[in-house]
Amino acid sequence: MLVRIPNVLTAEQVRHCRDVMARAAWVDGRVTAGHQSTQVKRNLQLPEGTPEARELGDMVLTALNRNPLFMSAVLPKKIFPPLFNRYDAEGEMNFGSHVDNAIRTMPGTGVRVRTDVSSTLFLSSPEEYDGGELVVEDTYGTHSVKLPAGDMIVYPGTSLHHVTKVTRGSRVASFFWTESMIGDVTRRGMMFDLDMSIIRLNADHPEHPSVITLTSLYHNLLRQWAET
Ligand code: NI
Repeated sequence: MLVRIPNVLTAEQVRHCRDVMARAAWVDGRVTAGHQSTQVKRNLQLPEGTPEARELGDMVLTALNRNPLFMSAVLPKKIFPPLFNRYDAEGEMNFGSHVDNAIRTMPGTGVRVRTDVSSTLFLSSPEEYDGGELVVEDTYGTHSVKLPAGDMIVYPGTSLHHVTKVTRGSRVASFFWTESMIGDVTRRGMMFDLDMSIIRLNADHPEHPSVITLTSLYHNLLRQWAET
């Protein structure tokens, strides 16, 4: 299940990110890559834990915590501090096919995060670069994703994915992983569909008695399945 989450950041926040990123020092993206992905990863990253990465990461986390669609689609338990990457046409940067590491340790805390859900928050607008599509293979086929700046895609951490070569301009993005209260991707998808259906039913027929029944069902399923 891929879910597009529009307007995670405002245009103003995107501009601020871009200003900070333009002044920052970048390092080789392989610093956070696992053994297999090291072979195929060619991009740049803001070093973890620098003041710039921390400030921007906190801004993204605050925005996520206020985003009902993210909450519903991901049911987050722990969010890994957001990272930031860049793919330049110069150097023909790309990231070949890989699966993200299953477990990530939060820097400084030793807290482990199981990477149930991967997220990419686009910070360049599509007109600024060619190539640089995020391509995700899931059980329903192959999806090519390139979104407006400020929009985000979330997809299962179990998916094979890659970023195609940037052939013009630069693509900057934030990316991170989330451990969900519901680790199972099928259950998580059903909870999301149920929640969205309740929201639509409640909008169209607020007096309908099934709103209460379905809402109870949602919470009782969450009680059955959630790890908190
Ligand atoms: Ni990845």
